[in-house]
Amino acid sequence: MAELKEFIGAYEKAAESGIDPRCIPQKLESPPPVDDEIIYPDYSDDDNDTWAQLYARQMNLLEGKACDDYMHGTRLLGFEPERIPALRELSAHLKKETGWRVARVPGLIQAVDFFRLLRDRIFPSTDYIRGKHEINYTPAPDLFHDIFGHMPLLTNPNFANFYQKFGEAALNAAGEQQIFLERFHWFTAEFGLIKAENNRNIYGAGILSSLHEVDHSLGEEVVIKPFNAESIIHQEYEVWHLQPVLFMIDSFEQLEKGFEEWTKREGIL
Ligand SMILES: [Fe+2]
Repeated sequence: MAELKEFIGAYEKAAESGIDPRCIPQKLESPPPVDDEIIYPDYSDDDNDTWAQLYARQMNLLEGKACDDYMHGTRLLGFEPERIPALRELSAHLKKETGWRVARVPGLIQAVDFFRLLRDRIFPSTDYIRGKHEINYTPAPDLFHDIFGHMPLLTNPNFANFYQKFGEAALNAAGEQQIFLERFHWFTAEFGLIKAENNRNIYGAGILSSLHEVDHSLGEEVVIKPFNAESIIHQEYEVWHLQPVLFMIDSFEQLEKGFEEWTKREGIL
């Protein structure tokens, strides 16, 4: 039995211990396909229907709540309401706008692989979509989060630069700095808010692709703190609850500059 055990991969081990195996980061054994190397999967009608339902629901929900740069990005990427986008086409659009490209990855990947790709202006994306039973919430990455949540803002030059610098800095970070950067990522790329004319808008992918976070993040229960690198890095968070504290930037210029200043002070950029 001991020998057999050795053949059991991390996925099976995780399943045995009750952890969702899709949430275990995988190591990339070889460079992932990028741009035109990415093959468009043979999606079922049900997959496309899941995209259509999620797309219609979130677009409707996000009206007047997502920031203008995000909405502009969705148009630049040419999202279709009823067909799952092709990663190679998204890659071509991003390349034209900000020099970013897309790689197809099999799921959650290990941090060092993730940071290397970001440093090279390559966004790692999954190409499978959640099942209908998870339409309201999935703990694992899927293409709806990766494409709909993350990619539109990569058409914004300041955000695009910030995200590349993030990858670079993360590769140079050590010890406590790694935790600081994790928090920075969480409170910006995933759960960031931006000042809007009347109030605030959403730009974080974790909110944009979530049914419940959209209204929650703009509601009164949330404590909103102004963007400040020093306070972000000391703000703890929990993944499994609606977020009680969020940070608001004034602009994407501020995000890029603020991150750059902090990383320079830390000596990691
Ligand atoms: Fe994400």
